Amino acid sequence: MTAQIKDLNHFDGKEATLQGWLYGKRSGGKVVFLLVRDGTGVCQCVVEARQPELFQAASDLGQESSLTVTGTIRADARSPGGFEMAVSRLQVHQPVRDYPITRKAHGIDFLMEHRHLWLRSGRQTAILRIRHAIIKAARQFFDDHGFTLIDTPILAPGAAEGAGTLFPVDYFGEQAYLAQTGQLYLESACMAFGKVYCFGPTFRAEKSKTRRHLTEFWMIEPEIAYAEIGDLMNWVEQFISHIVQSVLKAHREELGTLGRDVAALEKITVPFPRITYSEAIDLLKSPETHRKMNEELEKDRELLKKMIADLAALEAEKEHARQAWAQDKIARQIQELREAIRDLETSITNRPEHLKHALEFVWGEDLGGDEETIISRQFEKPVIVTEYPRKAKAFYMKPSPDNPEVVLNMDVLAPEGYGEIVGGSQREDDFQALEKRMTDENMDPAPYRWYLDLRKYGSVPHGGFGLGIERTVAWICGLKHIRETIPFPRLMGRMYP
Ligand code: 4AD
Ligand code: MG
Repeated sequence: MTAQIKDLNHFDGKEATLQGWLYGKRSGGKVVFLLVRDGTGVCQCVVEARQPELFQAASDLGQESSLTVTGTIRADARSPGGFEMAVSRLQVHQPVRDYPITRKAHGIDFLMEHRHLWLRSGRQTAILRIRHAIIKAARQFFDDHGFTLIDTPILAPGAAEGAGTLFPVDYFGEQAYLAQTGQLYLESACMAFGKVYCFGPTFRAEKSKTRRHLTEFWMIEPEIAYAEIGDLMNWVEQFISHIVQSVLKAHREELGTLGRDVAALEKITVPFPRITYSEAIDLLKSPETHRKMNEELEKDRELLKKMIADLAALEAEKEHARQAWAQDKIARQIQELREAIRDLETSITNRPEHLKHALEFVWGEDLGGDEETIISRQFEKPVIVTEYPRKAKAFYMKPSPDNPEVVLNMDVLAPEGYGEIVGGSQREDDFQALEKRMTDENMDPAPYRWYLDLRKYGSVPHGGFGLGIERTVAWICGLKHIRETIPFPRLMGRMYP
């Protein structure tokens, strides 16, 4: 029977067969070490020269050759999973000679072009395993709290989150769009079930090439009847802390592979800080914030100097490295360091400008990525920002009874500069108020007749929110860019593979 590498601890001293792919290979004179991966882990498989045929076959194998190996399993601290195999049989399914992603250094464009193969790397599988865990924890949370899963349509007759980011689809000669959210349909189902959620792909024709924007992303959205904005804040903090704690419980190893600062994630427990949009603006302009941000900037300038010195040292080291594998290893480190230096340089160059904009920020605009970065850096936990200006937000949000210029909404900004991961609100539940708001926004009422109906037949206070899976993955994994958080990212300017 085939064993899985993650289960090899049950095979100590026994024979096992593994089916997988060659991840890497080292030769040490009289032995060849095959690093075999099977999707559950990596195992060092040892082939000795005293088995000449086997030794020759193993020595000839190229990276990503598919193979079945059989042999005796023994504990060995030098093997990645703690167990290695003394190989007695080797079957090669397909020998590979020219796998494009080598142990050498590759730039990000090359890797994105080869995303279909890049998925096999240890770092990418760690990220996608954590993505799976985040989705599982998110669904489990709602399943365990009495929510019913409702699948909302992908083809929609109108906009829900602003006409500016719609992807049009020709629907038998009529204009349809790819869904920006499941929310409006979820509001209907919420009046049938009380508590519902949807989970699916959503689409935004975002014409922005930022590290936070995809054109196709996955969102999980709950909708709750008889809920007001305060209830939504309680739900969202329980929900997010449950996700983070679940990942910490099951995926420390993957977080380690990614070099994630786990201590920062351990702090993500309820309650979360709550501030209003107006307080967020005060924070953007406060001398204390600017002092802290400038201090960080100074520290980063020092760090940059150190990184540049390290780069020079690595380059010198590469000159002197004799073996090819040592040169490749240093080349990879150089490549990574160069990218990190470029990112840090850009960040350092941009920050004075962002801080200047923060000072000039006028009440009434939506918070942009740069403002969110500054605000979220002031907190160790996600911060819930409420009561945004009505004009900056979607038509369905209910204005505050105390101040109709602001709405009963919340954005949750993830710490460490990550920014918005959740948007949500209490919904306008009054027929006339909603109709007027739609007229004010010049919306064609035809596609929304059914939505207005919900305000005629047993309307109640209700609301919900949407959590973007990819932004959550980026934050929990500590990634700089959203492109690695989804198997095949759709970005402005990228549709391949
Ligand atoms: O704030 P948004 O636009 O809210 C809604 O769609 C509501 N209908 C949700 C609701 O109340 N049921 O989007 C929600 C979240 C954002 O906070 C962000 O995490 C993610 O979806 N998101 C994106 N993620 C990646 N790329 C984009 N272009 C995104 N746009 C939104
Ligand atoms: Mg939003």
